[in-house]
Amino acid sequence: MVGYLDVWTFRRSPPYSRKDRKEATLTTQAATTKPTFPTTRYQGSKRKLTGAILTQIANLDFNTALDAFAGTGSVAHALKELGKQVTYNDALAFNHQIGIALIENDTVKIDENDIQSATTRHKGVTYDDFIQRTFEDIYFTTDENAWLDVAVQNIQNVESKHKRAMLFYALYQSAMIKRPYNLFHRKNLYMRTADVERSFGNKATWDRPFPDHFARLAREANAAILNTNQTCKATCSDALTIKEQFDLVYIDPPYVSGAGSGRGVDYQHFYHFLEGMTRYKDWPDRVDQTSKHRRLMNEINPWCDGSKNADMFTKLFEHLEKSILVVSYRSDGTPSIDELKERLERVKPNVTVIEGERYQYALSTNRKSREVLLIGK
Ligand SMILES: C[S@@+](CC[C@H](N)C(=O)[O-])C[C@H]1O[C@@H](n2cnc3c(N)ncnc32)[C@H](O)[C@@H]1O
Repeated sequence: MVGYLDVWTFRRSPPYSRKDRKEATLTTQAATTKPTFPTTRYQGSKRKLTGAILTQIANLDFNTALDAFAGTGSVAHALKELGKQVTYNDALAFNHQIGIALIENDTVKIDENDIQSATTRHKGVTYDDFIQRTFEDIYFTTDENAWLDVAVQNIQNVESKHKRAMLFYALYQSAMIKRPYNLFHRKNLYMRTADVERSFGNKATWDRPFPDHFARLAREANAAILNTNQTCKATCSDALTIKEQFDLVYIDPPYVSGAGSGRGVDYQHFYHFLEGMTRYKDWPDRVDQTSKHRRLMNEINPWCDGSKNADMFTKLFEHLEKSILVVSYRSDGTPSIDELKERLERVKPNVTVIEGERYQYALSTNRKSREVLLIGK
């Protein structure tokens, strides 16, 4: 069995000052545990890096942990696997459902009947056709839009909170996997349907029917369910408003690339379609009908703004100052690692900076940037 340390290892190294260097301590568990976390195309997912991250933090003294910007939940899941009492948090509602499915949920799995029931039109039920009416020729074909309208409404009516979240999980992943770039940032259905030679993407995956993807991804979600003796939960808040105390907080906010005051990854924009499906009844009031790709009304997120995010880090560090703080960022972003370190030192006397190997995210062209972990105690 391949331990996931093979994928990537952190090292404590220059350019950060000598006193920060320290030998990495490996734990057997982090080095040998087989990852059960499903593959994902979510932007910035740490799925392939969780082994390396755990290697750096598993020996710290903590039981309760918050993954404050949890996204796919890959790090929260690894912490749960380590036996910690984990809280998953993300500001987006669709991610919250993923946290309920994969982190809060200890036992509930979905079976073939659940899949069948979620994906077929039920006699006597009147279905809204909002997706068909609103997203014609934008992301999916007409038949696929009709399938989505039915599946979302069936899933919404599932009584069990955890089963509902598991089904939503399969729906989101299916929708993402069928999209060029796995995103909803542009009206580009034509990339799938145009009769041209392609040098990228996987047309077979895009064109595979929704029910096939859905059933496979539902099974993947089942395989990720962990029953530990700890109560884990999922919340949906702005990280700065979280009041509970935790021994350790993992912080992996949207990344702003390059020096200066650029724009970072805007998750609400990239995944608005998944957010809309999660709040299907409110979707018509929230959609921006003037945008070509019918995105949601823009909500400004200061974490995505290179002129504001450094101050957001400071506010968050102050807010969470009683916890061990573990921050993931990249070596070539805004703020710089040196600035982040200096800001973390304002609340934590002992800060270690650990630099990873070069790591290239899916669809990224950036081959130079390194993943960096800052640990403040
Ligand atoms: C880099 S991603 C996290 C990736 C995650 N560690 C994983 O492995 O999938 C950043 C996440 O922060 C969330 N986010 C953005 N602003 C937030 C805020 N103010 N509070 C909480 N979460 C936020 C986004 O929805 C996104 O999922």
